[in-house]
Amino acid sequence: MKVDGTPYRTIWLGSDGTTVQAIDQTLLPHRFVIRDFRTVEDAEKAIRTMIVRGAPLIGAAAAYGMALAMAADPSDPNLTRAYDALLAARPTAVNLRWALDDLRALLAPMPQARRREAAYRRAAEICDEDAEICRRIGENGLAEIKRLKPRGERINALTHCNAGWLATVDWGTALSPIYQAHNAGIPIHVWVDETRPRNQGASLTAWELAKHGVPHTVIADNAGGHLMQRGQVDFCIVGTDRTTRRGDVCNKIGTYLKALAAHDNGVPFYVGLPYPSIDWTIEDGASIPIEERHAHEVSRLSGRTDRGEVVTIDVLPEGSPAANPAFDVTPARLVTALITERGVCAASEAGLISLYPERAKAA
Ligand code: MRU
Repeated sequence: MKVDGTPYRTIWLGSDGTTVQAIDQTLLPHRFVIRDFRTVEDAEKAIRTMIVRGAPLIGAAAAYGMALAMAADPSDPNLTRAYDALLAARPTAVNLRWALDDLRALLAPMPQARRREAAYRRAAEICDEDAEICRRIGENGLAEIKRLKPRGERINALTHCNAGWLATVDWGTALSPIYQAHNAGIPIHVWVDETRPRNQGASLTAWELAKHGVPHTVIADNAGGHLMQRGQVDFCIVGTDRTTRRGDVCNKIGTYLKALAAHDNGVPFYVGLPYPSIDWTIEDGASIPIEERHAHEVSRLSGRTDRGEVVTIDVLPEGSPAANPAFDVTPARLVTALITERGVCAASEAGLISLYPERAKAA
């Protein structure tokens, strides 16, 4: 997607052929800064501290992390060390494990002298594939949007967190259909949940929609139910960090509440996802590990003052404890449909298997 007229992906290989570069998402929307990752430790830290975030981008960054590790030392012990360190960086998004398993399966049987080049090549392929998958999610989601408003009337979407191009390599998952609808001339407007505690909606989704010229309005997380009761939301669409075999969806904390409100108000609730976000080994969302993040994300806020300084402030009374579960699980029964790169299906094992028949359990 474009930033002030220049096309960007979220992550790419630098011109020296070794350094990896990425947009620093901790500084948006106030500063647009590109970071260099020169070591696997840089990549691990970038994932852990959310310089890069969003399930598909975490997978892509981990793949490049393995390449950086192989550039430094392609030995078996270093392969294992890099795999373990990157896997521990963030626990919920299954794309991380998917990418690391992919790289390890490719590299482990290979002579050490070939590992560096093979790892960089595969990381680049994963990025290209992610961009193409997300483009196709957008096409399939656009067909759903056209089904909801066949005469091309104004349509209001609501989204939570950031599942746009910043969360992927390009296009996004939940936002890809929105970009495609906007590009096709459909008058689409997006209600953007601010998404406390880290405000990925207010700081990232609003930023990228604004850069692409998509009409949007940021709302407090608590406003969505009210807007749905008033008929001001035609559909909800979110991303997912891990979808179980039965179609339970784990996404940013607060997603479940939006799904409940959507269900109560008869508002369709869609989830956009690429196949690496499906965890075929888990049936029930209750077994997904939920990341607990630092209490400071709840107790502090950062933003720009009128003088243009970016500052962080405390918002809690001194001594009040804060808890920070980062994700929740929306049960499949609250999801209208899953929108994937292969098409749209019911949020159920049968629905997913209809699109991914190779995953059917042997009879
Ligand atoms: O904690 P984050 O910012 O990495 O969480 C991101 C989300 O919850 C996204 O909705 C999810 O990764 C899907 S992204 C296409």
